[in-house]
Amino acid sequence: MPAPWNTFVEGDNLEVLRLLPEGSFDLIYIDPPYNTGNEFAYRDDFRGDRGTGRSGRHAAWTAMMRPRLEQAHRVLDRRGALAISIDDNEVAHLRLLLDEIFGETNLLGQVVVNLNPKGRQLGRGFATSHEYLLVYARELRDCVLDASSRTTVREADFPLAAPDGRRYRRLPLRNTNKKFNPLTAPTLHFPVWGDPVSGRVATAPFDGASRIEPVFGDGRPAVWRWSAPRIEERPDDLECRLVRGTRGERVDVYQRDWLHPPHGHRRKKLSTIWLAEEVGSTDTAVAELKAILGPVFESPKPTGLLRRLLETMPDDARVLDFFAGSGTTGHAVALANAADGGRRTCVSVNSAEPTRTGSNAARAGYADVAAITRARLRAVAEGVGGGFAELPSDAPSA
Ligand SMILES: C[S@@+](CC[C@H](N)C(=O)[O-])C[C@H]1O[C@@H](n2cnc3c(N)ncnc32)[C@H](O)[C@@H]1O
Repeated sequence: MPAPWNTFVEGDNLEVLRLLPEGSFDLIYIDPPYNTGNEFAYRDDFRGDRGTGRSGRHAAWTAMMRPRLEQAHRVLDRRGALAISIDDNEVAHLRLLLDEIFGETNLLGQVVVNLNPKGRQLGRGFATSHEYLLVYARELRDCVLDASSRTTVREADFPLAAPDGRRYRRLPLRNTNKKFNPLTAPTLHFPVWGDPVSGRVATAPFDGASRIEPVFGDGRPAVWRWSAPRIEERPDDLECRLVRGTRGERVDVYQRDWLHPPHGHRRKKLSTIWLAEEVGSTDTAVAELKAILGPVFESPKPTGLLRRLLETMPDDARVLDFFAGSGTTGHAVALANAADGGRRTCVSVNSAEPTRTGSNAARAGYADVAAITRARLRAVAEGVGGGFAELPSDAPSA
């Protein structure tokens, strides 16, 4: 029997994390309390014993997070990555804490996520319309996170069409990076032969061909991006053209970069700004939850945000969310598996924190937040598939 896509563990996440085996997850996503002091269904105010001043609040929040992040580091596979949602309240403190525990060289990005496109109208400052996603590799060298996406590839970036209709764009075969030159990459400095009339390119002379050396725009010697055997293997992916540059006309060689490459899927590197129109907003997230359970949680994340993150990892990633809240991560895992046939699994952890008296959640009959997580993940298993299991907090990896 394959593992269920979703598993829930009710309990304090620190206790649960301590019982999870080392290296047992590929992706950890968390959305911890932001320490806003707001009245949510759960507690979002860390005053601690060190007084109510700002520094005391930050220290209390950091003291809560530190052992949990140390455990997160332990339970992540060497090839894995950690992503944390956070806003201006604690981003500076969290960044330093993660630099300490994960190492600053493992930072993959501090992504700006535009979850509130209209902007927060309250307060003295600018209308905040974003929060952050801090992403760290467990070990940068071994990390399998591919910071690119299939869904952001734009057809308009491939303006040309081959006679058979396949779309492509032209990229210079010359390596335009000045770091690469005949001294640093001698095996990639060789002449090729090309005919701008037929477009044909080869590594040996042929009738009607001109000899072409790789050069930078200022005429200094450069190198090709492809080796000679690769050029010979893929003539259909190359094109010889006559081009007009600042130094007059010359013959040059281009790669035909296909929108739909014959092997694999085209991906586009993700930028560090993720727009609400791409990943959803807090309003979208509230609507998603409302459609399943009602408006029982004030600050869920949109499944689109998690789907984008999941896209950067293999489709059998073992995912952990130990501040699960309304269960968005588990929902996104099920949606991703249903869409691409993947075998991702997700363990969600949330404490039985009582819902605030008078909150929508309490009025809807959810006595604690764990009841909300459980209810959504059950509904997801019914509606999307993949099954649902619950494990006791003293044996979370059973
Ligand atoms: C910001 S919410 C997460 C929201 C979630 N990402 C979603 O989309 O619904 C933080 C959650 O962490 C839970 N939580 C806080 N401290 C916890 C702890 N020590 N152990 C387990 N869960 C905790 C809270 O009950 C709350 O549900």
